[in-house]
Amino acid sequence: MNIVLLGPPGAGKGTQAKRIEKALGLVQLSTGDMLRAAVAAGSEVGKKAKAVMEAGKLVSDDILIAMISDRIGEADCKNGFILDGFPRTVAQAEALDKMLGARGLKLDHVIEMQVDDAALVERISGRYSCKDCGAVYHDKTKPTKVAGKCDSCGSANMVRRPDDKADTVAARLKAYHDQTAPIIPYYRAKGALKVVDGMADMDVVTAAIAKVLGKPIAAI
Ligand code: AP5
Repeated sequence: MNIVLLGPPGAGKGTQAKRIEKALGLVQLSTGDMLRAAVAAGSEVGKKAKAVMEAGKLVSDDILIAMISDRIGEADCKNGFILDGFPRTVAQAEALDKMLGARGLKLDHVIEMQVDDAALVERISGRYSCKDCGAVYHDKTKPTKVAGKCDSCGSANMVRRPDDKADTVAARLKAYHDQTAPIIPYYRAKGALKVVDGMADMDVVTAAIAKVLGKPIAAI
C-alpha cells in the first residue's frame, strides 16, 4: 500500500506516519527528515538545502524528485510506503505519478489533514523530538512521561528544530498556501483525495486515517 499524507507544517503528518508505519509495516519517507540528515552529513544536497530550510522556503523540485525517485527503488519500500512531506508542489506530484507509473506502482491513498493556521503555530512552537530515535513530543499535548527522557528509547537527547522559530513558521505556512495547497485540487480531480480533520485529538485522527485505509492502527 502506498500512501501520501498531505497537510501544512505541524498538521501531524509525521506523528500519524509513524503510527501507520508501525501498524502496517510500511516505510515512512519523510523528505524533511531526509533533508535534515543531508544537512547534518554536510553532503552536497545538505549544503544546498540548509539555508533554504532555515528560511522556511521549499528546496528545489529537482533535488526532491531525485531523492524520492532513488528512495522508493530501495528494497525496504517493496511492501509500500507513506510519503510524509512529498509531493509539495504540482511539479513534484506530476513527477511522482511518472516515477510510480514507470515502476508499475500507484498511490492507493492520498489523505489531506486539515488544521487551522493558529493551531499549527501552537503545535510547532511546542514541538521537540528525540535526536536518537526521532520520536516527536509536544510541551502541552504530548510531553514525555518522564521529563526530558524519551518514552521510546530512553534517550535524554531532546532537540528542537531550527526552523520551528516563529518567523520561520510564518514563512513555512506561506510556502504551504502558495506552493503546496495547489496539489489538493490535483488529487481531488483524480478522485484520489480523502480529507480528515487534523484538529481532532491525535488518537481520533489515527482512527479517521485507519477508516480511510480500512486497517486497524494503534495509538503509540
Ligand atoms: P518537514 O520536515 O516536512 O516539515 P513540515 O511539512 O513543515 O511538517 P512538520 O514536520 O513541521 O509537521 P508534521 O505535519 O509532521 O507534524 P508533527 O507530526 O511533527 O519539512 C521541513 C522543511 O524541509 C520544509 O520547510 C522545506 O524547506 C523542506 N522540504 C521538505 N520536504 C520538501 C519537499 N517535498 N519539497 C521542498 N522542500 C521540502 O506534529 C507537530 C506537533 O504537533 C508535534 O509536537 C505533535 O506532537 C503535535 N501534534 C500532532 N498531532 C496533533 C493533534 N492531533 N493534536 C495536537 N497536537 C498534535
